[in-house]
Amino acid sequence: MSPGIVEKFNPRKTSALTSQRDLVRGNRRGRYVPIHEITLEEVRKNAIQFGLATDLLYQVSAGKEASIFLAMWKKHPIILKAFRYWTSAQSRKKKGYFAPTQMEALAAKEFDILSLCYKAGVHVPTPIGRVGNYVTMRFIGDAMDTAPQLRDAEVVDPERVLDQILDDYLLMYSKAHYVHGDLSKYNILWWRGRPWIIDVPQACRVDAWADMKQVESLLYRDIRNVLSYFKKYGVRRDADYILEQFISEYTPHNLRNYRESVGSSYWRVR
Ligand SMILES: Nc1ncnc2c1ncn2[C@@H]1O[C@H](COP(=O)(O)OP(=O)(O)OP(=O)(O)O)[C@@H](O)[C@H]1O
Ligand SMILES: [Mg+2]
Repeated sequence: MSPGIVEKFNPRKTSALTSQRDLVRGNRRGRYVPIHEITLEEVRKNAIQFGLATDLLYQVSAGKEASIFLAMWKKHPIILKAFRYWTSAQSRKKKGYFAPTQMEALAAKEFDILSLCYKAGVHVPTPIGRVGNYVTMRFIGDAMDTAPQLRDAEVVDPERVLDQILDDYLLMYSKAHYVHGDLSKYNILWWRGRPWIIDVPQACRVDAWADMKQVESLLYRDIRNVLSYFKKYGVRRDADYILEQFISEYTPHNLRNYRESVGSSYWRVR
């Protein structure tokens, strides 16, 4: 007998993600689960079960909250970013508890912000899919090489490259309405003669309810981080002037007069 419409959309068989969540929780209820170890095999199994990849090759890096893997979608290399509530052999051993839902929220945030930036024309890895705490995206690199971080790149035309980064960041800010919040020589990759912005889950939305003081200080820090990398090439730009350009390009409509409302001295503290 074919399933009724209600059953069809509410299948009794649990999804791979639900089974995985149950497995991680064990018999526990509540927000937190103990940190445990996970192997490359288990990540591969999840990625394949979730339909995110057809194979997992190796771990590329282990950051504070996420591990990055090179995966395959059929014959194409892709990146799988896993927000961790577990440790892996390659990452530092930690003890304690983690909230899996927080990691899923970060994965969802990274996917959504990458999508908005991509649509706004920013050079970011094209997002592909997201299930649970896993996100897949375009691999910046090719069969021979992985794109290096900007800090390890050899830049021959630094003025132009700095312009490309600032143009992309201005698009992210003024069209996608996000402040990156961790932009630096580490979160910019260098590939085929141009910079690519990565690592966006901490980005901060700039909308009608934004705290513009916080927005300004994050923008200012990002701009200064980028400018400091270019000092070694003898490139000097004025961070205050660039910040003003960003703010004048986009400020949420209802916050147009935000500086007046709190007094100008308040804004000098950055
Ligand atoms: N799309 C990609 N293509 C190629 N390499 C990538 C890609 N995404 C990430 N990487 C590699 O993995 C590294 C870590 O990525 P990312 O900064 O997104 O993760 P992270 O765990 O948040 O890092 P951290 O905590 O160290 O900032 C990058 O510096 C880069 O070397
Ligand atoms: Mg990073």
